[in-house]
Amino acid sequence: MSVTGVQGEERNDYSKAESRHIRARSRRLLGSLLRPQQGKLWLTAAAVVVSSAAQVAGPVIIAYGIDQGIPALMEQDWMPAAFAGLAYLLTGLVGAFLISVYIRMSARISQAVLIDLRTRVFLHTQKLSLEFHESYTSGRIISRQTSDLDAIRELMDEGLTMLVRGLMYMVFTAIALLLLDWQSGLVLLVALIPLGILTRWFQVRSQALFRRSRVASAKLIVQFVETMTGIRAVQAFRKERRNEQEFGGLVEDYRDVNAKVLGLFAVFNPGLALIGNAAVAVTIVLGGFRVIDGTLGVGVLLAAVLFTKRFFDPMEDLAMFYNGYQSASSALEKISGVLEEEPSVPDPAKPVDLWNAEGRVRFDGVEFAYTQGRVILPRFDLDVPAGQTIALVGSTGAGKSTLAKLIARFYDPSEGVVSLDGVALSDLHPKDLRRAIVMVTQEAYLFSGSVADNIALGKPDASFDEIVRAAQAVGAHEFIEGLPNGYDTDVNKRGGRVSAGQRQLISFARAFLANPAVLILDEATSSLDIPSERLVQEGLTKLLADRTAVIIAHRLSTVAIADRVLVMEHGRIVEDGAPAELIGGTGRFAALHAAWRDSLV
Ligand SMILES: Nc1ncnc2c1ncn2[C@@H]1O[C@H](COP(=O)(O)OP(=O)(O)OP(=O)(O)O)[C@@H](O)[C@H]1O
Ligand SMILES: [Mg+2]
Repeated sequence: MSVTGVQGEERNDYSKAESRHIRARSRRLLGSLLRPQQGKLWLTAAAVVVSSAAQVAGPVIIAYGIDQGIPALMEQDWMPAAFAGLAYLLTGLVGAFLISVYIRMSARISQAVLIDLRTRVFLHTQKLSLEFHESYTSGRIISRQTSDLDAIRELMDEGLTMLVRGLMYMVFTAIALLLLDWQSGLVLLVALIPLGILTRWFQVRSQALFRRSRVASAKLIVQFVETMTGIRAVQAFRKERRNEQEFGGLVEDYRDVNAKVLGLFAVFNPGLALIGNAAVAVTIVLGGFRVIDGTLGVGVLLAAVLFTKRFFDPMEDLAMFYNGYQSASSALEKISGVLEEEPSVPDPAKPVDLWNAEGRVRFDGVEFAYTQGRVILPRFDLDVPAGQTIALVGSTGAGKSTLAKLIARFYDPSEGVVSLDGVALSDLHPKDLRRAIVMVTQEAYLFSGSVADNIALGKPDASFDEIVRAAQAVGAHEFIEGLPNGYDTDVNKRGGRVSAGQRQLISFARAFLANPAVLILDEATSSLDIPSERLVQEGLTKLLADRTAVIIAHRLSTVAIADRVLVMEHGRIVEDGAPAELIGGTGRFAALHAAWRDSLV
């Protein structure tokens, strides 16, 4: 599926075909989640059916006890009464036991399904390509893993058994009543008409309101996540006041829609009670006349009244639960959308192994566009021999990072092939690709954990010695020693916080340890001061000696260690040559370099 599918996902205006597709997709997911639980599901269903039947038997036994048991008692025959009492007790016991069985079973099913779903969502979103993550905001992906999964959990934990039990109970009750005394059954059937109208009214109103409520709560989450992830910019630009207003507005919307939902219940619940009471009253009056006539036993009348009254009991729960059901099904629709999203940079069907990469990188007839119709890199060829160090320079937005991302296969080219040692990157085994090609960027992300852990990311089985040597090579050793716990300092704890430049040094050590055949440094030294950068560069000359390297840097000092300079402009490579050759010429790079030298003196 394409990224447009993702973007369209939070809309509400689906065409018929789209809705059908979405429902089918979410049914497929549900099926795949429930299939492993089939055995338990059948057992639970059986327990629900039998326990509902046992519950419904109650009034019938009471009727028997009153109409047969009491007259018999008067004749000194206590058998029928004892039988009724025993039967009542027994059905109660069986019912209680079965309730315990299905609560246990349904909890097990719901936990198993949720673990399965949670893991799937995590592993799948992690696998999806950058293209997906750039268009799917973090607030939305967080909602998938939190509130959406919670909605499904709530439904599975309480709602589902309640729904099935409630419906079963109502159907059994109606049937039992019709069999026991069809006239009272008829009263109940007539009461179904206003009940149907009331329920339909509630369903239509609540559907729209529940949807609005979900949208409002999702907006709250998105606004919160955006504010918190951008908290530095928020505070730097004093955006708090405006956020307060926006957030206040969203909270107000949410309150408003929830108040309306409660308003619906304020009509629905009393309406329900009214219909129930009226049905009971009519049953008593009509039944009373028949008791006087002698055509109806008092016990049967009592049973009929109990049935009629109890029939309405589950309705309130069902209405409450309707919201949960809707949230859960819309959550499942959204999650199934994410799970059906294919990585735009797929793993090869027949991966080619490349145990010892030499590091020759080639672009053959490559053209690249992030979005269709807006070409960023027009068609070009480029051959980087193994071991060459390339400096990639050019103005902001020229396409340097884009070219680098193609080498690291964060994206596939729209046309043409990028290859390593003659193997197209799209055919290369992912493990070999990640081992052979490492890209260090400006962000230098550190994960929570110690400094040593963060460096070891480049080579998970590295010894402590290797980690220290890597840090020494890039000149990070001194500052790390100076941290409160040295290499064991937790980078996310107070006191372990490192500066942007220090972060870059750590990520350098990480790359050094990974020892890739091709190393890409995208502004990787941009936060370093001149002495630190010198230090890194000394390390770099050693580091880059026997591998292919692409260095992107605005500071032209880096260019000194390059074998070859590529100058990019508007996505095209406009100059290509040895540094000395270009500096001596009259091209762009010569001008750039002259300006840079002037700025130094
Ligand atoms: N994820 C993206 N989606 C769409 N367009 C993008 C994306 N990333 C970059 N671009 C566009 O591609 C062009 C080249 O961007 P790129 O990041 O490659 O420039 P750069 O040369 O690295 O610039 P800088 O020196 O500022 O880092 C820019 O016009 C930018 O708008
Ligand atoms: Mg860039």
